[in-house]
This record gives sequence, structure tokens and C-alpha cells, in this order.
Amino acid sequence: MSDLKIGVLGAGVVGLTTAVELQKEFRQAQIDVVADKFYEDTTSFVAAGLFRPGTSFCGPTEDITRKWISDAYYYWDEIRKTAEAPDAGVTQMSGYIFSSKFPGLVRNHYIEKIVPIYRSATEEELSICPGNWKYGSYFTTLLTECSRYLPWATKRFTANGGKITTRKIENFSEFQNQYDVVVNCTGLGSKFLCNDYKIVPMRGQVLKVEAKWIKTFFYGDYDTYIIPGFESVTLGGCRQYDSYDLSVNKYDGMAIKERCEALLPSLKNAKLVAQRVGLRPHRDPVRVEKELVNCNGSKLKVVHNYGHGGYGVTVAPGTSLYAVKLVRESLSGSSKL
Ligand code: FAD
Ligand code: BEZ
Repeated sequence: MSDLKIGVLGAGVVGLTTAVELQKEFRQAQIDVVADKFYEDTTSFVAAGLFRPGTSFCGPTEDITRKWISDAYYYWDEIRKTAEAPDAGVTQMSGYIFSSKFPGLVRNHYIEKIVPIYRSATEEELSICPGNWKYGSYFTTLLTECSRYLPWATKRFTANGGKITTRKIENFSEFQNQYDVVVNCTGLGSKFLCNDYKIVPMRGQVLKVEAKWIKTFFYGDYDTYIIPGFESVTLGGCRQYDSYDLSVNKYDGMAIKERCEALLPSLKNAKLVAQRVGLRPHRDPVRVEKELVNCNGSKLKVVHNYGHGGYGVTVAPGTSLYAVKLVRESLSGSSKL
């Protein structure tokens, strides 16, 4: 073990993926994860986990955004090919996206050339679901279920000597003299920790139902989606800008159920298991960059990795690998390397 100490703030999909990758890059370092919420109390736990970046998702440049997305796809796909895949919650999944409005809504310039299949739906396929569907695509992608991935990544992290601390951080100065560099993966928490006005909660609610007969995902208009996972099927959704309400709203739940059952009537027989709410940490662009934070006159090296909005599960490995590169850059010249 060297004297190098790195702190990772946050234990959602972004924090844990970053922590595991830092261990691979800095094998001799002591790496700690510090967070006030874990597992089912994170936004990550609420996600359906489908690999599908929104077409408006963006990093600092188009090239960097595309690299994050392709790195992330191949990262998840490598896990999918191993015997660990079910424990890690990673699997392959195919399905349809339909729209009655615009042809562009069923295209995705980020993933069309990455995933193994992305094609237009045939006339027959446009009538698989009730509704007047004019446009559609069929594609094969990946799914990472965080109820499995978060414990799996935590186990790997602690087995490699990582330490986990439960603590809420009000100010980076609490880390002064404790770490050589801190990686900030606090998602929406960065709004307050960094006084970052650009990050906004985008509230989402989902229903988890038991419907083992559903093997493919379906998207319809108005953010309607049905996504099968390992434990249950996720029905969504909604996007409420600047809402901090973490409670389940019965009217949102009823609207989601009605829209999903209209798309797939067999869901009327599905048993409701849970309803969950999460606040997507929306920021345009996602912030992955270095900063020297002033802490009572001295400087703390911070690498930010937050603001993934509705696409944190999709892109976490891509931005995390990029953040690890920034950590290496910020330590260049350090005698501890
Ligand atoms: P979080 O999971 O929120 O983790 C943040 C961590 O930081 C927590 O551990 C928290 O305790 C810690 N923290 C924050 N502030 C502090 C502080 N001051 N001190 C200490 N610790 C702190 N994405 C997809 O890619 N695919 C999907 O299918 C998908 N579906 C979604 C469905 C819904 C309904 C919602 C709401 C989101 C969905 N998302 C999806 C988006 C995804 O959930 C988020 O982008 C992702 O979870 C963000 O991860 P994160 O690690 O940045 O944040
Ligand atoms: C969302 O609700 O944010 C979401 C759902 C499925 C895939 C990606 C995002």
C-alpha cells in the first residue's frame, strides 16, 4: 500500500463504478467511498437500467459524449459475457420503440451503430401493440439492474481493500488533508455541495410489477415504457422538472398504469410489487472535470462526475473511466504515484 489516498463521494451507480475503476488504476492506493445513502435509498436503485441514452444527453463535446457512450456499452457488455453477469444484474434485452408523432423519436444517433441490432419496425410489427403507431424501431441493447449491480460492485470494492463510510458531507473542506484527490459522484447532492445552479431534479415515478410473461421492452408516446428486469417489470414513467417530491403520487401511478396497459393489455393481470420515485440529476452538460477547490486557504483536488440525468446507469462506466483519467492527470508529478 502506498500513501496515496483517494476519496469517492457517492455510492450510486456512478460512485461505485468509479471506485472500482480507481482500484484497478491505482492498485496501491487506499480508496474510500463516503456517502449518506446506499442501495435502495439512491436514485440508481429506482432506474429500470436500460442502456438507452436520450438523444439530448450531452457531455462537453459530441466526441467525448460518444466516447463515454461507447466505452460504457462495451464495459457492460464485457460483464454480460462473464459468469458474473446475473449477480451483477447485467443482461441483453430487445424490444420496440413506437411513436404516433414523429419518425425522429424512434431513432437514436448515439446507439444505432453500437448495439448489435437497430432497425425500423416492419408494418406487421407496428401492430404488435394496440394504438395507431406510425413509426417504430426494434433494437437489442443491455440492461443493468441496480438492485443487483450496487451490491455486486460494493462486494468487489470491499474485497479489494476499499473502505465504506456513511456520512453526509456539507463542504469539501471536511476532506482537507485527508485525501490526495476526491472524486465527486454525488448526483443531485452536487446542487448543494457545489452550489451548482445548473443541476435540476427531474422527478420520475415507476411501478414494479410481476409479469414473467413479458420478455421484451416497449416504449410508446409520452414517456411510456415497459421494461422487464431480473426481479420484476418496470412501468414508467414521468419527468417532472424541478420537483423535489420523493413521495409516491397516486395520480402519477394511475396514469402510468393506464398508459402501459393501453400499450400492453396483458399487464392488467400483473401484480403490483412496488412504486418507486427518484430524482434524476439533470445537468446540461454532464459535469466530468477537474477543479481545485479552495478549503480555508489550501487547495483540494476534486474531480467531478455528476449530472447524468435519466441516463446514469447507461453511461456510468464511460464517465467513470474518463474521471479516472482526470484523477491520473491531477496527480501527475505526485511523489505518491
Ligand atoms: P445516485 O444514485 O443518486 O447516487 C448519489 C450518491 O451520492 C448517493 O450515495 C448519495 O448518498 C450520495 N450523496 C449525495 N450528496 C451527498 C453528500 N452531501 N454527502 C454524502 N453523500 C452524498 N438511467 C438509465 O441509464 N437507464 C434507465 O433505465 C433509467 N431509468 C430511470 C428511471 C427513473 C424513474 C429514474 C428516476 C431514473 C432513471 N435513470 C435511468 C437515471 C439513473 O437512475 C440516474 O442517472 C443515476 O442513478 C444517477 O446515479 P448517481 O450515482 O449519479 O446518483
Ligand atoms: C427514465 O425514466 O429516465 C429512463 C427509462 C428508461 C431508459 C432510460 C431512462
